[in-house]
Amino acid sequence: MTIVLLGYMASGKTAVSKLLGTALEMPVIDLDNYIEQKEEKTIAEIFETQGEIYFRMKEHQYLKEVLEMQTDIILSLGGGTPCYANNMNLIHEYTIDTFYLQTSIKEIISRVKDEKSKRPLIRNISDEDLPEFIGKHLFERNVFYQQATHNVVTDCKTVEEIVAEIKKLLN
Ligand code: S3P
Repeated sequence: MTIVLLGYMASGKTAVSKLLGTALEMPVIDLDNYIEQKEEKTIAEIFETQGEIYFRMKEHQYLKEVLEMQTDIILSLGGGTPCYANNMNLIHEYTIDTFYLQTSIKEIISRVKDEKSKRPLIRNISDEDLPEFIGKHLFERNVFYQQATHNVVTDCKTVEEIVAEIKKLLN
């Protein structure tokens, strides 16, 4: 059984996947980390030197590689992974348990505003323009995120509470 976690930047995918991995005694793969190891570059460096289209191509290639391993894992996606290259259909070929970690615009902004430089898609957006940018971006991406089989609201919840909710939904 592979479990996939998806959601916008700063929705808690990485933290939740780590704790879920411990709770279920399953290995965790973070797709962004996997890409960074394979490409020997940070995500920010890939965006900077090769551009977003190259990144999306590699993201699809490595997603396929991980899913084809056919081992039981918890897979934490990048925020944009579900929205490109028919990736949600590919994911649904390999797993039935996909969890959308749904986080409000307000909460996302408060989490990303001090670490924009690490995030290539928002690093050049001013603090003033951030709410509109994230609002539009989430609206566009929602159609893909909603294809997940489960929806877990993360606002005002601890990582432990989110993991408990996911475990319940798995039973
Ligand atoms: C992206 C989100 C990032 C990373 C890349 C693109 C996106 O992952 O894959 O910067 O398109 O939303 P996180 O959601 O883990 O920050």
